[in-house]
Amino acid sequence: MKALILVGGFGTRLRPLTLSVPKPLVDFANKPMILHQAIAYKIEALKEVGVTEVVLAINYQPEVMLNFLKDFETKLDIKITCSQETEPLGTAGPLALARDKLVDGSGKPFFVLNSDVISEYPFAELINFHKTHGGEATIMVTKVDEPSKYGVVVMEEETGTVERFVEKPKIFVGNKINAGIYLLNPSVLSRIQLRPTSIEKEVFPKIAADHKLFAMVLPGFWMDIGQPKDYITGLTLYLNSLRKKSSPKLAAGHQIVGNVLVHETAVIGDGCLIGPDVAIGPGCVVEAGVRLSRCTVMRGVRIKKHACISSSIIGWHSTVGQWARVENMTILGEDVHVCDEIYSNGGVVLPHKEIKSSILKPEIVM
Ligand code: GDD
Ligand code: MG
Repeated sequence: MKALILVGGFGTRLRPLTLSVPKPLVDFANKPMILHQAIAYKIEALKEVGVTEVVLAINYQPEVMLNFLKDFETKLDIKITCSQETEPLGTAGPLALARDKLVDGSGKPFFVLNSDVISEYPFAELINFHKTHGGEATIMVTKVDEPSKYGVVVMEEETGTVERFVEKPKIFVGNKINAGIYLLNPSVLSRIQLRPTSIEKEVFPKIAADHKLFAMVLPGFWMDIGQPKDYITGLTLYLNSLRKKSSPKLAAGHQIVGNVLVHETAVIGDGCLIGPDVAIGPGCVVEAGVRLSRCTVMRGVRIKKHACISSSIIGWHSTVGQWARVENMTILGEDVHVCDEIYSNGGVVLPHKEIKSSILKPEIVM
C-alpha cells in the first residue's frame, strides 16, 4: 500500500525564516520541529499496516524534510519520496500530481494524511472498515467543541454513510469533524484535476452526494497542532471582551494581573501571581507562590508550589510539580503529571503520561 502526506502550506510560513537563519535554527523553531515529529509518527504507524511507500506532498524545500527522514527510511525499511509542487495545489491537487506514485495497478486503496494533526492512528481498523462498506472513500472523524474551524461531517451513525461534508461551516451542522486521515480508492483520482483544488470543498461533497463517502469515528486522542496558538490568542480576545463589558466574571485582587478567570470552585494559595490572560477551571488547586500567565488550566488540575507556567495549556486533571517551569506552547493532555523541578519548553504531551525529565525543545511526547 501507498500513502501520501500533505505537508504543504507551512512553506510560506517557514520561508522568511529559511531565508534569514540557518536550517538547524528553523528546525528548532516551534512549529517545524513538532511538524517533523508528527510526520515521523505517522510513517511509523503506516509501516505497521504494511505501507511500503510514503509520498510527501510538499511545496517548499523538500530537502529539509527528507534529511530529517533519511534515518527513518533505512530503519523502517520504507520508501519515502517527495512530490514537489511548483505552486501550492491545495489539498486535492497534490493527489493528481502524485497519481503515478499512488496507483500501482493493484487497485488497492491508498492513505492520505494531513501533516499537522497528531492522534492515535488506528489504520488497521480503518482498512477493515473500508473493505466492508464498499464505498470509494473513508475518512476518520472526531468530536470537537469548535467545529466551525474544521470540515464538518454529517453521518448516519449505524452505517457510517456520510450525508454531508461541509468545510468550515458558518452555521452549526454538527460536532463531528474531519480528522485529516483518509483511505481512498484509486477511482477517487479520476475526480481530481491537476490544478489548485480542495479535497474538502470540491471532492468530498461530491463523493458524499454519490453515497460513496463513509466515516469512522477515531477512537482516542486527536489534536490539530496548528491550533494551540489560536487557542491562547482566542482566550486573550475573549477575556478582553469581558473587560470591555466590565464583566463581574473577571477576577480581582492583589494576586491578579490583567484579565483572569478563576472558577468559583478553584483554590488559589498565598503569594501567587496570576495573569494576564489566564483561565483557571473548576476544582483546580493552585498552591502557594505559583506564577501563571497566558495559559489555560483545565478542570481538576493541581499546580504545586512555586511552579511557573506561561503560554501553555494544562489539560484536565493534570498536575504540575513544585518549581516546575512550563512554557512556550506546552500542551499537556488529560491526566499528565509533570514531576517536581521539570522544565518544559513547548512539549506536546499526550494523555496519561508522567514527565520525569525536562523537555528542552518543542517536541511531542507520546
Ligand atoms: N502539498 C500541499 N500543498 N499541502 C497542503 C497545501 C498545498 O497547497 N495546502 C495545505 N496543505 C496541507 C497542510 O500542510 C495540512 O497538512 C493539510 O494540507 C490541511 O491543510 P490546512 O491548511 O492545515 O487545513 P485546515 O487545518 O484549515 O483544515 C483541514 O484540516 C482539518 C483538521 O485539522 C481540513 O482537512 C479540515 O476538513 C479538517 O477538519
Ligand atoms: Mg490544519
